[in-house]
Amino acid sequence: MKRLLIVTGGGDCPGLNAVIRAIVHRASKERHWEVLGSIQAFNGILWEPSEVVVLNTKKVAGIHFQGGTIIETTNKGGPFSWPVKDKNGNWKTIDRSDEMIRKLQAMHIDAVINIGGDGSQQISEKLFKKGLNIIGVPKTIDNDLSSTDFTFGFQTAVQIATEAVDKLVTTAASHNRVFVLEVMGRDAGWIALNAAVAGGAEVCLIPEIPYDIQKVKAALEKRFTFDRGFAVVVVSEGAFPKGGEVVSENSKEAGYENRILGGIAQQLIVDLKEVGFKHGMRETVLGHLQRGGVPIAYDRVLAAQFGVKAFEMALAGDFGKMVSYQHPDFVAVPLKKAIAKPNLIGKNSTLVKTARGLGICLGN
Ligand code: F6P
Repeated sequence: MKRLLIVTGGGDCPGLNAVIRAIVHRASKERHWEVLGSIQAFNGILWEPSEVVVLNTKKVAGIHFQGGTIIETTNKGGPFSWPVKDKNGNWKTIDRSDEMIRKLQAMHIDAVINIGGDGSQQISEKLFKKGLNIIGVPKTIDNDLSSTDFTFGFQTAVQIATEAVDKLVTTAASHNRVFVLEVMGRDAGWIALNAAVAGGAEVCLIPEIPYDIQKVKAALEKRFTFDRGFAVVVVSEGAFPKGGEVVSENSKEAGYENRILGGIAQQLIVDLKEVGFKHGMRETVLGHLQRGGVPIAYDRVLAAQFGVKAFEMALAGDFGKMVSYQHPDFVAVPLKKAIAKPNLIGKNSTLVKTARGLGICLGN
């Protein structure tokens, strides 16, 4: 009997359960494979006692349209930075990766599939270098992982953001207002720019293109004649003005290494008022609504293909690689390559040119 362990790490994402189900179904076609899931990423292995669940076709029945992950996730800590308190009561992190690999050996785990974003795949690569048989599946609503055309969950987030733009357009038009919609996207503006194009926004601000507040003001003013008019601005949480900084704060949660982003919509309104923009403005922060709930059909199909391919890589012993969607194929790329650089929007990309062609102001 061979044992496969599934891990879901980092922020959750619509389609995680569809990937888990696909792996389990594909594994059930082989006679000698048992699939287990570690609870809360690698915490389930690192905890004493460990917490793992058996994943069989009964356990995964009907989960393909459920949001979240049935084996839970975390974006804190991990085997290389496990949070512990020092003797003064302050948090520090320790490396427990060797101990974890020994535990996995004792549990007779032959292969691990780590479904996660950039941070999780960096952990996969480090564990692979230490000898673990590991395969990555790219997951993030931000779509900022390179070496794959798309990550699953991204299109669902774009759909949710676009529906928000559609709703804001009607209230903006009724009240002759500007609405600023803040969406997720730490380093990459994929959700914002796609939602802006799909929803017909007037302005879109993304991390890849630092904005000039005067340009934003001018674009919005064009939308008003004799005080009548409206506009929608879509802004990524990671967008920032030329020469300025991302709006963020330090997290006080133990083991959470990211800064918490959020507040750029409100900041933009303050800055627009300061440079003399006179029309009424309101902000909406979409936040984690973009990560929860049912994955759209496209993401379920993508997730199923990622899952089946990941299991087949385990079967073939093709470790140290990440499943990559390169339309229309699903191929294996070295983890090292996949994490080498983030997938950002090119300033001269077709999507940017399309947005400009539609008259969307990108703030520069
Ligand atoms: O990486 C995905 C993402 O949704 C980012 O866009 C966002 O900044 C982050 O996760 C927030 O994560 P959390 O609040 O769960 O720590």
